Amino acid sequence: MASTKPVALITGASSGMGAGFTRDLVQKGWNVAMVDLKASPDVQADVGDAATFYTGDVSDYDSQAKCFQAAWDTYGRLDLVCLNAGIIDRSPLYILQHRNSSDIPPAPDLKCTDVNVKGVYYGTQLAIHFMRKNVVPGGSIVVTASASSLYPHECYPEYSGSKAAVWNFVRASARVLRIKDNIRINCIRPGFVPTSLAPPGMIKAAEDIITPLETIVKALNKILDDKTLSGAALECSMDKILLTPEPEFLNGEASARASFLWEPGFVAMHGEASQLPEAAP
Ligand SMILES: NC(=O)c1ccc[n+]([C@@H]2O[C@H](COP(=O)([O-])OP(=O)(O)OC[C@H]3O[C@@H](n4cnc5c(N)ncnc54)[C@H](O)[C@@H]3O)[C@@H](O)[C@H]2O)c1
Repeated sequence: MASTKPVALITGASSGMGAGFTRDLVQKGWNVAMVDLKASPDVQADVGDAATFYTGDVSDYDSQAKCFQAAWDTYGRLDLVCLNAGIIDRSPLYILQHRNSSDIPPAPDLKCTDVNVKGVYYGTQLAIHFMRKNVVPGGSIVVTASASSLYPHECYPEYSGSKAAVWNFVRASARVLRIKDNIRINCIRPGFVPTSLAPPGMIKAAEDIITPLETIVKALNKILDDKTLSGAALECSMDKILLTPEPEFLNGEASARASFLWEPGFVAMHGEASQLPEAAP
């Protein structure tokens, strides 16, 4: 039987922002399916029976799918999915220390891309599947992107690329998800938040521009409350929550039409008409 309470599945729920989302939602009367590589006894003690922990690796589709299935079997509904788990670069892609070698450098460890990008694509597909089963089909997906989706982060170029990718994925998929499946997908772009993701020295260096966890939690609640938000990216900077403007088409119609909806391509890819307003009848 479906839970009488709204249900969220949150990835990366044992620490930082995911733990903040979990605590806030439980306090508001939600049930939360917490997905992470490892459990946090502290967070679980705070949220008690209202949350269930599932061990899972979001970069592995089968592992993430098992968590979704187990959460569905427990709660029988899924209102919100926060695709939040993330890591920073594991390999120094500039290979500055490899300058004096003529050997081909070893393959980089691209786990950051697997977690931050593939983890979000996998989670979106799984959210669509389970949200279709809700009594009223549909729901809300919130991706934790980053300030660095837009402002490049030169220390961690793979991370910055991964966060740009998921922001654009949100923008590209939002209208179709809304029309086809009554799903709103949005993202949050946090500035610098002092969590376990950040090296302690960086926390010290950025202490005057810190974005508190509270701002990130407020942004999630803004997305939940404002049902007009779809495909939006909310930048969280210190105490401010700012709607990221859509970029202009630099070469007018030529830029716009280079990425236009081509309905035959949509049908070939997805097997049915897009139903988007500008699709040819
Ligand atoms: N801290 C910041 O300044 C900052 C800024 C912008 C965006 N972000 C993003 O916010 C999100 C949350 O990060 P945080 O700052 O709370 O960091 P955090 O390290 O405190 O929390 C991340 C959680 O994700 C989990 N995780 C990592 N890999 C996983 C995997 N493969 N499968 C399942 N869980 C996994 C970790 O175990 C951890 O509990 C991330 O996507 C991060 O990129 C962080």
